[in-house]
Amino acid sequence: MIRNEEIEKVIDESQQGNSLALENDTKNTRKLYIESYGCQMNFSDSEIVASILAKEGFNTTQDMAEADLVLVNTCSIREKAEQTVRKRLEKFNAVKKTNPGMKVGVLGCMAERLKSKFLEEEKIVDMVVGPDAYKDLPNLIQEIDEGRNAVNVILSKDETYGDVAPVRLNSNGVTAFVSITRGCDNMCTFCVVPFTRGRERSRNPQSILEEVNDLWEKGFKEITLLGQNVDSYLWYGGGLKKDFEKATDMQKATSVNFAKLLEMAAEAQPKMRIRFSTSNPQDMTLDVIETMAKYRNICKYIHLPVQSGSDRVLKAMNRLHTREEYFELIDNIRAIIPDCAISQDMIAGFPTETEEDHQDTLSLMEYVKYDFGFMFAYSERPGTLAERKMEDDVPEETKKRRLREIIALQQQHGLFRTQQHVGKVEEVLIEGTSKKSEAHWMGRNSQNTVVVFPKENYTIGDFVNVKINECTSATLIGQAVGLSINN
Ligand code: SAH
Ligand code: F3S
Repeated sequence: MIRNEEIEKVIDESQQGNSLALENDTKNTRKLYIESYGCQMNFSDSEIVASILAKEGFNTTQDMAEADLVLVNTCSIREKAEQTVRKRLEKFNAVKKTNPGMKVGVLGCMAERLKSKFLEEEKIVDMVVGPDAYKDLPNLIQEIDEGRNAVNVILSKDETYGDVAPVRLNSNGVTAFVSITRGCDNMCTFCVVPFTRGRERSRNPQSILEEVNDLWEKGFKEITLLGQNVDSYLWYGGGLKKDFEKATDMQKATSVNFAKLLEMAAEAQPKMRIRFSTSNPQDMTLDVIETMAKYRNICKYIHLPVQSGSDRVLKAMNRLHTREEYFELIDNIRAIIPDCAISQDMIAGFPTETEEDHQDTLSLMEYVKYDFGFMFAYSERPGTLAERKMEDDVPEETKKRRLREIIALQQQHGLFRTQQHVGKVEEVLIEGTSKKSEAHWMGRNSQNTVVVFPKENYTIGDFVNVKINECTSATLIGQAVGLSINN
């Protein structure tokens, strides 16, 4: 039996922010405090920002009270994410009373969405910088140093930050994000991302491989290739995907799609674990699944958001596949990679969603039995097609009840999936000490499930074979049986 408070906790945890810091350069004199909210891409972007600012004389700190510059990398995906940022700005205001010289900048999706309105609405804010404008930070900081407000929210068709080597903030030294695409062209009707992050563009594969090799040399053991829609990755020497048709024969012949990029990364570092996120069902091709099956070091896990199980709602969301096509994709994944874990994103209470549509979502979940899920109540976002053309007509109470039903079913399925691991010996990469016990390590198996086991003589970054003895709906508990051959 799952209690409602536990479900509320699951909902709340997706909204947490993190302050980020790293080991510092002694030559630098100014102090940067940076906080990130929202998706993995924002965390990755904060590492790019810290890298750009390190060259401008900034070291990171985790103490806002001593910071010269306080940055908050914001999320607009749901209203609640924006409210969280507004609350943080109140806190910054309080700190400014004891640290009057500190300047405050907002970065990311909320900056892009609100632009200079931010300066009017929140007096504490000195600087507003959109996700494609981080290279302009040195100029913008000069502006605010001279006492003026500064804004740059210009979106770009080609900026990928491929030439900026990110510094690793709050790193465990084992796992890292590597961004491969920016923006999104899908225009799902509920989603603000295409407006805040602009057109989709792919990063030069050479710079991606250089980053992967560099991470391996620094001792990292696992990377996650990041994009809003990784399966749509396409490099033919630069340029937007929609212009590929106009590329020369030579460019077409040497182009790199996502399956090829995965293969290149897997071969460049055969011992590096490779993950990727996010896959959009409409763009995921069989060659990606086959590439995953072919390489031992590509993790057997696919985050495959579906949002709804109802064909009518999928259409209204502008998701370009049907329920049946999604099932076909799931069947193909299971046939080609029998031990592959699959996770979802789901939205409860999209406009016009009926009880029957909701039942379709539950029955789709029953078919797939996802390993994990990220589930949300629909939140109307200004400027999206859904906001302009549809009424947010599902009552709040109904949205919440449907969301609770979805989460409860997901927890049952999570338990069903974790139980399949019990009794097996699985390779786990140690990421750090377990949150609940100093005496235990925490790591993940290939399927991305958290595994906890007694520390013994193993250490962070080891690949360890662990016999799984017990489980909860989200965690496996086991005992190490030895180092894996991957070390
Ligand atoms: N392709 C992206 C999706 C970004 S948004 C990725 O890389 O993950 C992450 C999830 O937030 C979406 O899959 C969707 O389930 C949820 N979401 C987006 N807009 C939303 C909205 N307006 N209300 C509720 N949930 C939303
Ligand atoms: Fe948003 Fe759909 Fe792109 S959810 S990020 S518009 S794939």
